[in-house]
Amino acid sequence: MRHLLAIEDLERADVDRIMARARSFAEVGRRDIKKVPTLRGRTIVSLFYESSTRTSSSFELAAKRLSADVVAVKSAGSAVDKGESLRDTIATLSAYAPAAIVIRHPYAGAANLVTGWTSAAVINAGDGKHEHPSQALLDAYTLLDRLGAVDGRRREDLDGKRIWIVGDVLHSRVARSCALCFRMMGAEVTVCGPPSLIPRGITEALGVEVAHDLDALGEADVVYALRMQRERMSESFVPSVREYVAHYQIDSRRLGARQLLMHPGPVNRGVELSPEVVDGPASLITAQVESGLVVRMAILYELLAGGEPRGAGAADRDAELPAPTPIGEPA
Ligand code: CP
Repeated sequence: MRHLLAIEDLERADVDRIMARARSFAEVGRRDIKKVPTLRGRTIVSLFYESSTRTSSSFELAAKRLSADVVAVKSAGSAVDKGESLRDTIATLSAYAPAAIVIRHPYAGAANLVTGWTSAAVINAGDGKHEHPSQALLDAYTLLDRLGAVDGRRREDLDGKRIWIVGDVLHSRVARSCALCFRMMGAEVTVCGPPSLIPRGITEALGVEVAHDLDALGEADVVYALRMQRERMSESFVPSVREYVAHYQIDSRRLGARQLLMHPGPVNRGVELSPEVVDGPASLITAQVESGLVVRMAILYELLAGGEPRGAGAADRDAELPAPTPIGEPA
């Protein structure tokens, strides 16, 4: 893998490698010293044109745990405020010869554009309504971890699992990436929401079922609620928040005892989720954040220190890198 731009670019083998690597990093995270020298001397640029808590902090910490130097730039307060273009911003930051640029931007395709302006590996940390691939990978990791072992072996797939993605699918890059990733791992995915918040043609595009009410929610093994993205809504997509809550909020009446609950965060408490389910026993929301760190370490490793051979000289370069297991030998 040269870049991580979208789940639709990945093969199942890519996902499996990242899952396995993340498990190794989870083991490192249980040690007293949680840092490994794999990316010592490399620089990671984190460039966020939209607000973020989880993605920005976990990529930054992931890079630091791998011993990279990190330059974190938020568009607010940077020269972007003075009118500097994305292209010039990338040219400026590329002068530091970064190994990778992690970028979040409101426009779909922005990360893809950046690949043409830098020699760094580019990681899409969310581009408009398009994709948020690292979120989907950390969610898949969380589910594999939580669903446990099958026949004494750790689960490597989501075969036969039914996952409902509920809410504002129209504006959600998470929904798109998760649907693609969960289906690739073998799950059956249903998206559910009011017709105004479900994109037309989504069944053909993503291979998901569509529901407009929660009547059959009981069939789901996993309920994945989405945030109402009011910042991306230029018109009214639901009659009122009250109406939305009445029909689509996941609360303790609607969530069954055996069902798992996920949400990418940040949660609008009292809108898509009732407060008691956010903090309830079915909630994997904190586990998702924990997974974000080790999965993003695995992504950086995959792009910068591992993965498939990358053309002439790759074997020689890889010979200098740490063996996949155990992680932590000097690069
Ligand atoms: N899930 C997610 O992308 O969260 P942040 O916006 O906090 O990064």
